Amino acid sequence: MAEVRIRKMLPEDVSRILEIDLRLVGKERSPSWPQRVTRYLEMYYPPLCHVAETNGRIVGFILGDIRGWEYALAPSGWIDIMGVAPDFQGSGIGKKLLKAFADECRERKMKTHIMVREADERLQRFLSEAGFNRGTLIEYEK
Ligand SMILES: CC(C)(COP(=O)(O)OP(=O)(O)OC[C@H]1O[C@@H](n2cnc3c(N)ncnc32)[C@H](O)[C@@H]1OP(=O)(O)O)[C@@H](O)C(=O)NCCC(=O)NCCS
Repeated sequence: MAEVRIRKMLPEDVSRILEIDLRLVGKERSPSWPQRVTRYLEMYYPPLCHVAETNGRIVGFILGDIRGWEYALAPSGWIDIMGVAPDFQGSGIGKKLLKAFADECRERKMKTHIMVREADERLQRFLSEAGFNRGTLIEYEK
């Protein structure tokens, strides 16, 4: 595969991000993925967001924001949604995007957080391999 470049997200990247998101909405889409990329992009333009580009085409993205106060945690970077176009999955792009996001957080002396479904073992393995440990929050429901 041609070289993959990770760079900060720009406003003009949104349509391609939505295109990838649409392709991921099919049956292959992870159950961990919250279906809210459109709303997210309308609400935020945080400096933590990155895209992966190869041959001038965006093939992956990672979106998140800075929060934590609502859980009485130090402000941290929260990955909200990430995706790699199906044809490009499994070649290390996801890991590069995670690293770019976490590096941005570390530069700001912040941790990186991400929520995943307990049943999504594949995604949990992906995160463990990228150096993520299980955090301290637990969810309640009624
Ligand atoms: C999860 C995802 C971002 C990883 O990107 P990637 O470029 O394929 O990842 P890498 O090549 O760096 O690493 C491969 C690892 O990613 C994980 N992975 C790959 N595809 C996955 C999928 N559909 N669902 C969950 N995890 C996946 C696996 O741990 C895989 O390792 P394995 O093949 O040994 O099981 C990408 O597969 C994807 O877009 N999945 C669908 C959307 C999603 O689940 N997003 C994350 C929640 S917001």
